[in-house]
Amino acid sequence: MKSEELFKEALNLFPMGVNSPVRYYSPIPVMFKSGKGSKIIDVNDKEYIDYSLGFGPMILGHANEEIIKKMNDQIENGILFGSITENEVQFGKIIKNAVKSIEMMRFTNSGTEATMHAMRLARGYTKRNLILKMEGGYHGAHDYSLIKSGSGTMTFEKPSSDGVPEEISKTVVVGKYNDKENIENIFKKYGNNIAAVITEPIFGNIGVINPENDFLPFLREITDRYSSLLIFDEVITGFRFGFKAYQDIINVKPDITTMGKIIGGGMPIGLFGAREEIMKNISPSGDVYEAGTFSGNPLSMATGIATMNILKGKNYDYINNYARRIEKSLNDIINDYKLKAFVNRAYSMLQVFFNDKKVNNYGVAKNSDTNKFKTMFDRLLNKGIYVPPSQFETQFISFAHDDNDFQKTMDAYYSVLKCL
Ligand SMILES: Cc1ncc(COP(=O)(O)O)c(C=O)c1O
Repeated sequence: MKSEELFKEALNLFPMGVNSPVRYYSPIPVMFKSGKGSKIIDVNDKEYIDYSLGFGPMILGHANEEIIKKMNDQIENGILFGSITENEVQFGKIIKNAVKSIEMMRFTNSGTEATMHAMRLARGYTKRNLILKMEGGYHGAHDYSLIKSGSGTMTFEKPSSDGVPEEISKTVVVGKYNDKENIENIFKKYGNNIAAVITEPIFGNIGVINPENDFLPFLREITDRYSSLLIFDEVITGFRFGFKAYQDIINVKPDITTMGKIIGGGMPIGLFGAREEIMKNISPSGDVYEAGTFSGNPLSMATGIATMNILKGKNYDYINNYARRIEKSLNDIINDYKLKAFVNRAYSMLQVFFNDKKVNNYGVAKNSDTNKFKTMFDRLLNKGIYVPPSQFETQFISFAHDDNDFQKTMDAYYSVLKCL
């Protein structure tokens, strides 16, 4: 089979044959060669309904014609000049108009870069050292983020990374998402040295977990009380539930916001933004250094602008309802077969946890039955349904998914879960 031959070659080129860890799963990860709308096609010409969407960005589905046209226009006119371009200005205005807390921003090439710079900015602005992050929160693959992290670090049961010096891990305090008492105690102990709290407002890297008991307004209040900054990492949630950031849905205004994924329409992108008084500390107007050869590059900008212009006209109820229907049907199956499983959903993101308990934090999530998840994943794959290959990732819905996809998906789930 073509897939097996290619993977053998890949194994000699890349660690475990992949260029990002969660792309690996046994025995051989499927190799995709193309995509259109809600479907992706593998190298053996098998078609799958895609609920991974490239781990989140492809909210309009694959190979959207309007976006391709805008990309081609840009390609024909050159793709990198290393100077300010009109595209950046146009895109910056779209973001600023849509997200109330962002007065100024910097574009980066990934979410990892965005959170790395956001943390440095918070430290530079407050002249404090500590960052408080949440257990299981994932903010990319830089040193300050890889401490009790989610995503691939959980899939491979290593919630921290070798190679992160102890000196660095000592500058990051780890708190518990949805546990106000825990956060309050950490602030009592370290509050005057905490530069910022960083959190995904809705957890999406240990499966989906919603905030509970006003946890996010509480974070706003306690960071204000201790003059620390609040960073919302909206790399997953930005523009996913409406043409806005999640912060503007719940009305909790962070000091710094990071974004990525959707805003680039599938091209490499990230951004961090804040009010002007904070952003002015970035070089060259300030002393916090940040740079990137490809930052704000014309092709990512053109793709991003085209994506945002289409998203602006979309009714997000469509994808949110699609996910709600999946959730309901899955719950019916789980009840019918008395499975030890729960579905967590936030708008158009969802995940099935094989767990005795409803998952509301990292501690519960990590006890999920990953073998059962893998069995479900393998069997769904076999039936042409592609969900992200880990219990600790999130399924996403795109505007390209339709009723036919829904029916096929639920038929597949029904026969797969019946056997579990
Ligand atoms: C919440 C969050 N922050 C940051 C990142 C890192 O983004 P990137 O993979 O673009 O570096 C991710 C990636 O999954 C993420 O989910």
